Amino acid sequence: MTQTTNTMIGYTANLPTENPEAFVVRTGEVPAPGPGELLVRVEAVSVNPVDVKQRASAPAKGFRVLGYDAAGVVEAVGENVTGFAPGDEVFYAGSIGRPGSNQRFHLVEARLVGRKPSTVSFGEAASLPLTALTAWEAVFDRLEIDPDAQGDLLVVGASGGVGSVLLQLVRARAPRVRLIATAGQANAEWVRSMGAHEVVDHKGDLVAQVLGLAPDGVNWVFSSHSHEQEGLYARLLRPFGKVVAIDDGPRDVAPLKGKSIGWLWELMFTDPLHVPTSEHQRWILDQVAALVEQGAVHPTVTDDFGPLSPDSLRRAHAAVESGRTVGKIVLSGWDESVLA
Ligand SMILES: NC(=O)c1ccc[n+]([C@@H]2O[C@H](COP(=O)([O-])OP(=O)(O)OC[C@H]3O[C@@H](n4cnc5c(N)ncnc54)[C@H](OP(=O)(O)O)[C@@H]3O)[C@@H](O)[C@H]2O)c1
Repeated sequence: MTQTTNTMIGYTANLPTENPEAFVVRTGEVPAPGPGELLVRVEAVSVNPVDVKQRASAPAKGFRVLGYDAAGVVEAVGENVTGFAPGDEVFYAGSIGRPGSNQRFHLVEARLVGRKPSTVSFGEAASLPLTALTAWEAVFDRLEIDPDAQGDLLVVGASGGVGSVLLQLVRARAPRVRLIATAGQANAEWVRSMGAHEVVDHKGDLVAQVLGLAPDGVNWVFSSHSHEQEGLYARLLRPFGKVVAIDDGPRDVAPLKGKSIGWLWELMFTDPLHVPTSEHQRWILDQVAALVEQGAVHPTVTDDFGPLSPDSLRRAHAAVESGRTVGKIVLSGWDESVLA
């Protein structure tokens, strides 16, 4: 590799997205991959709510690079890495415990990286890793929905990044599960196109709508907006049902006891942060890539904010901050003016 200067886009303080200095460019040396690492030339990224939440804290070292979704090309391979070579196209979310992917050359643990689906662009591929890992782990690992499972899954927040890919993954891997998706009226068509069998509006009376479709209650609830919804979910679920939640907030699990309902958490970064030998996320991403290549799962991009620069990143953060995005926002390519 000939390039020796790296370009990083990060933040120095939690400035509002209207401030032109909300993101700044820094340069540094292109790092060499250590044992177990890949050096990836990043070609596209996406922005998730976690980027916005992380930006709220001041960076400990005065400058921090965010970004937990990337697609790119392997530039160099560290010791003890098997299955990757320079030139391979890859996609990954990586770890929140390290600098993120909003940089031209990014070091990532190989165990967290999958091969990019060959049938889609870098931008399309970058829409998938974080949300697909979250959805997969939530539904197939935490709720233990297997290919033979039958029953009703209520998907709360179905039009968002995680919900959009979750609907597709369940359709592809557990075809006998009926998907009841919450979405605003404007997004009902979108969630149907992602695989929802039924659509209900979370702004309306969910008890009447959901029990109208599943009079005995649903078997499972996935929720990306579960705050203070324990009592509601206790009414919507069958006895011995399960909830998996991916958002934040304190819980009062008492309402769940009467029906022996289980409350589970899914945090996509648990594996990267706490199970340092796990290759599970690499395996999941390879499964997702295969499903994309088969046409069973489609990238969830609804907007490409163009080449990566402090300005395009600001616009993407502003959109995600609104809490009203559908599917995923990606940034593909690099603005030549910021590259060192
Ligand atoms: N634990 C993890 O590993 C993990 C991973 C990814 C994301 N998350 C978290 O999950 C949350 C959602 O992330 P995301 O990227 O999927 O979502 P998103 O893209 O931000 O979802 C936005 C959509 O959610 C729907 N929504 C808004 N308020 C709602 C409510 N009260 N009830 C139901 N739906 C509502 C809206 O669509 P409609 O108007 O169509 O309903 C909105 O367009 C965020 O808090 C994020 O940080 C956690």
